[in-house]
Amino acid sequence: MTLVLRGRVLSFVDEPQAADDHQSYRFWEDGMVEIADGRIVAVGDYVARPGVEVVDHRPNLILAGLIDPHIHFPQMQVIGSYAANLLEWLNTYTFVEEQKFGDDAHATRIASAFFDELVRHGTTTAAAYCSVHPGSVDAFFSEAEKRNMLMVSGKVMMDRNAPPGLCDTPETGYDQTKAGIAKWHGKGRAHYCITPRFAITSSHEQMAMAEALAREYPDLHIQTHVSENLAEIAYANELYPNFGDYVGIYEKFHLLGPKTLLGHAIHLSHREVEVLAETRSVAVFCPTSNLFIGSGLFDYDRLHTHGVRIAAATDVGGGTSYSMLKTMDEGYKVLQLRGQRLTPLRSFYHMTLGNARAMSLEADIGSLEAGKMADIVVLDARATPQMALRMQSIETLSEELFLLQTCGDDRAVAETYVAGKALKSALLN
Ligand code: GUN
Ligand code: ZN
Repeated sequence: MTLVLRGRVLSFVDEPQAADDHQSYRFWEDGMVEIADGRIVAVGDYVARPGVEVVDHRPNLILAGLIDPHIHFPQMQVIGSYAANLLEWLNTYTFVEEQKFGDDAHATRIASAFFDELVRHGTTTAAAYCSVHPGSVDAFFSEAEKRNMLMVSGKVMMDRNAPPGLCDTPETGYDQTKAGIAKWHGKGRAHYCITPRFAITSSHEQMAMAEALAREYPDLHIQTHVSENLAEIAYANELYPNFGDYVGIYEKFHLLGPKTLLGHAIHLSHREVEVLAETRSVAVFCPTSNLFIGSGLFDYDRLHTHGVRIAAATDVGGGTSYSMLKTMDEGYKVLQLRGQRLTPLRSFYHMTLGNARAMSLEADIGSLEAGKMADIVVLDARATPQMALRMQSIETLSEELFLLQTCGDDRAVAETYVAGKALKSALLN
């Protein structure tokens, strides 16, 4: 069964080096993406072919599905919680809410809502944190499997500085992670991720267990948080007094590397930046969260100049939107405050190929090319009356992308395809 999507097709081939870096992408004004068996088989100019099913998305843009490399599945009902800072936000709301995921029925209900929201916002792949409970991982990956979505996730390991209902132990954290890997990793499109929440909620013994897991399963992703907030950093250093700095904690437990995703990475010393660059670890920029919680302004240019790999993510529920468009909109504003530039091309690169590369998934997703999975988003820059009006004065592709980023949200996502299947229009509400 062949399906052809017709529209204005945009796909990145590399990181844009300037606002007008036309070499960094391919664009077909009247283009098509041909899909068979869930994969892309051809991309190029549209040519009519009798007998082939065509969905005409013109004048909308067709891009690779959006990728969110840092999001918390058990925090759907935390979003928009009023707190002074990170540690207050975690203790007052988040650690209370995540305890509900000890109930499998709750986890199953929220998983369904979570994937609906991703699909609604055009996000086809995410790196997500589950709660400490293995049942939350089962709920998460079961729902992902139903929709055939490529997901990177795992149970958080946390054994201290949190309510008892949210703590495992070094042994149970290790055993449950191993069981989760055996059950889910490689099943369909599931990638299990070793997930020590952050240094504050893991004892030295648990970090050593995470290290053992990383050694046993060197191909797995690892995700954690680092240097988000000044009080958090001071507390982490107090808990790990002989580790030099916050990055040094993960470094000494051999948790850094090309498949390590480090949420936030805002307040870093020169040494820490160099270690991230040397280990090829990924710093994940979470702008809506960093602004909402008041954590700080991510120094994009500094990390980029030093060769640190950068991803961009929502961090819901610290983050305030599921939309990768809104995420890059806020990211743009963070960089404006720092006197740095974020071009529209670079923003859309990050949402697609950039985040795929940061997650080492670019062989499978992130661009529209023959052989890649048909995970696709269709974006409508005329989605609202004010956007349609603004589009009347827009002349270039970059201007259109910038409008989508600045004014767009889930309303601008006309369709979301996962493995060639239209999922957004199939949602019930
Ligand atoms: N640090 C440790 N856990 C979390 C979390 O759930 N959200 C954010 N933003 N930071 C964290
Ligand atoms: Zn987070």
